[in-house]
Amino acid sequence: MKFITYCCLALLIFLSACQDDNQPIKIKFSHIVADNTPKGIGAKHFKQLVEERLKGKVIVEIYPNAQLYDDNKVMEALLLGDVQLAAPSLAKFKKYTKKLQVFDLPFIFKDIHAVDRFQAGKVGQSLLTSMDKYGYLGLTYWHNGMKQLSANTELHLPSDAKGLKFRIQQSDVIQAQFQAIGASPQKLAYTEVYNALQTGVVDGQENTWSNIRSKKFYEVQKYFSETNHGVLDYLVVTNAKFWRGLPDDIRIELEKILVEVGKEVNQLAQEFAKKDRQTIIDSGKTNVLQLTADELAQWRTAMQPVWKQFEDDIGKDVIEAAREQ
Ligand code: LMR
Repeated sequence: MKFITYCCLALLIFLSACQDDNQPIKIKFSHIVADNTPKGIGAKHFKQLVEERLKGKVIVEIYPNAQLYDDNKVMEALLLGDVQLAAPSLAKFKKYTKKLQVFDLPFIFKDIHAVDRFQAGKVGQSLLTSMDKYGYLGLTYWHNGMKQLSANTELHLPSDAKGLKFRIQQSDVIQAQFQAIGASPQKLAYTEVYNALQTGVVDGQENTWSNIRSKKFYEVQKYFSETNHGVLDYLVVTNAKFWRGLPDDIRIELEKILVEVGKEVNQLAQEFAKKDRQTIIDSGKTNVLQLTADELAQWRTAMQPVWKQFEDDIGKDVIEAAREQ
């Protein structure tokens, strides 16, 4: 009797294992921006292509707008297997690698094309695996764009920012950048920025045209200075064990799709930057200031000492590779 019970149990376990094998793999992709942004559109297109090309084998669920997790929590969620993909900004990985901080250095990239070349190059590619020992794998970079500064007073020169409070992402480099000009940086979650600007918890912020437009920061800031002083891009990141454990054919197809979508996101990011900048100007709700070459040079001079400050953490070679693009 006992023997029969064991056999039945074993059979049940076997059958349920077979059933699991037939279940599609579920990929939950959590991010914090709106759907109508380069990252939001990229995530949706990834889902569409995966579900077309890996029909019945993989399903993708997208959770935008920090609906599921903010960028701090999502990293834990990846390790716990609660989500399988995320794309935090490159400013948010310092707990796991200091090298990615290179992307936050002010004025290191002259434009988004220089960022592109660095990401595609040997050093940029090597940074994708810089979090291996924590169990994370960077799959690819996606652009958002260059950052602009804003406040309720005109910012032409670094001295105009002195004493003002600026919302920043969770980045020690960005913190040092604002300290270098005598301002007071405040690390705040993205979901809190609009309110913080509206209620005066902070006086200003830095972000890309796409984020400024989609989260309506321009409605609560009187002046934007077009500084393009730094980049805000993303790392599409996963749990290394999960990714490497996927069947080869599925992993290869997913990686192909990520490359394809990445090209589209990067193209879109440039279009969004132009379009969103214009939408903000046309709204009549704020003013976009053009800085002269001399003014920009003063911002650069004031902020550039930060490079040296983080040289040991980031690595001289990494900084040099970024600078020479
Ligand atoms: C921010 O916190 O400002 C950005 O990281 C938001 C984003 O994901 O673009």
